[in-house]
Amino acid sequence: MTDQTGVIADVRRGMIPAHVYNDREVFELEKQRVFSRAWVFVGHESEIAQPGDYVVRRVLEDSFIVTRDEQGEIRAHFNMCLHRGMQVCRAEVGNASHFRCPYHGWSYRNDGRIVGLPFHKDAYGGEAGFARKGQRLLPAPNLATYNGMIFVSMDPEAPPLEEFLGDFRFYLDYYTKQSASGIELRGPQRWRVKANWKIGAENFAGDMYHTPQTHTSVVEIGLFREPKAEKRKDGATYWAGAGGGTTYKLPDGDLDQRLRYVGYPQEMVDRMKEQLSPEQLQVIGDDGFMISAASVYPNLSFVHNWPRVAESDDVLPFISIRQWQPISEDETEVLSWFAVDAEAPEEFKALSYKAYLMCFGSTGMFEQDDVENWVSLTNTAAGSMARRLLLNSRMGILEDDEPVTPPLGPDAFHGPGEARTGYSEHNQRALLNRWADDLERPPVRAATLTVGAQGSGAVDDQGRTSPQASDVEVPGEAVAQA
Ligand code: FES
Ligand SMILES: [Fe+2]
Repeated sequence: MTDQTGVIADVRRGMIPAHVYNDREVFELEKQRVFSRAWVFVGHESEIAQPGDYVVRRVLEDSFIVTRDEQGEIRAHFNMCLHRGMQVCRAEVGNASHFRCPYHGWSYRNDGRIVGLPFHKDAYGGEAGFARKGQRLLPAPNLATYNGMIFVSMDPEAPPLEEFLGDFRFYLDYYTKQSASGIELRGPQRWRVKANWKIGAENFAGDMYHTPQTHTSVVEIGLFREPKAEKRKDGATYWAGAGGGTTYKLPDGDLDQRLRYVGYPQEMVDRMKEQLSPEQLQVIGDDGFMISAASVYPNLSFVHNWPRVAESDDVLPFISIRQWQPISEDETEVLSWFAVDAEAPEEFKALSYKAYLMCFGSTGMFEQDDVENWVSLTNTAAGSMARRLLLNSRMGILEDDEPVTPPLGPDAFHGPGEARTGYSEHNQRALLNRWADDLERPPVRAATLTVGAQGSGAVDDQGRTSPQASDVEVPGEAVAQA
């Protein structure tokens, strides 16, 4: 592994060595130092609303069965059989009380506990040879939720999710807490693009500058009410905690008028007014900014926009949650969900879904425009010349690092973090600075676990039992003696 000190120093001054967008060694480091500790989104509670519901999601190569057990508890089981390592659950989504391994038939309850072990007595001499009691599929080292969004961290010592997200939670609420019932999701659509995962995360974090150029045709066909994409510079970008994003400047009006301007019916406006904090409402009603795209470090993004959905002047808002799942240094699996307030009227949900599909998702016009850039960038970053090029990512700061546009004061922007109007790359730099911080940290050391240790459940190499493994009693009648 080559030393990345130079890369990190360049990134910290806003000059990005172009090869970081397509470099195997950098990607190896990202696996060991970024994705081994960050909180990574794996789904939303509404996707597994009923006991037994599950989805299979990944953190890099690690497959997890994210499920709601019979007690209603949300769990993420490492999707690898304790016997010979077969992937236990092969379906992507479903409802199951048990998971049976296709290889030799070991079976597990949806809380992870092993219940069926064919020929236990003949093959292992029963409990004396292989203690089933307390054995379960390995739980994700850490799991937590925020507004129903489920995250896992591969680091058992990870800071709490809320601490990790920090003040970005303020902005996350706009996308995920428009009523007391929260959101429901459709999807995800899933496809692969030959692009490095960081590019999408940076773009959604703060790239207002690409809109007038990359998305010209979308503006030309009149998909948006605002005639000029250049208006993006009037919006504010903000960075707070683990993420940042962009906003649009709204026309004059009060809170209700401004929410209706982007297409929310009055009943949804009323629920938002109950649900969001006074400061969250002030950003819209007093400051006149409406959230648009955003990214949470490392690879989760959001978008909120309000295109015309019919041959009229009426617009309708949609929300999409998207994840840039790294496959390799030059390939990313995109997961794109449609999200909508669970209490929204059915007609709104249907039209909002249509609005989303026009703009994002595998057929979305914005998506197609964006990805062409990202694939091309990744491709070009692989060559030898890219190793000589430091990309200038210093938009918004002068040579002495003083900002071109000063941050908005507390009366002009009521959200936490630092916000400013105008084109800049403050957010892209903030995201890559966090990345640089992680690259400098030591890899996360994970304990190994031994399966079948006598009477104690899975035991790690320091003799500790897995906390989730040792705290369960397997009821006798549930243990099928095969
Ligand atoms: S690998 Fe799963 S039962 Fe053998
Ligand atoms: Fe875009």
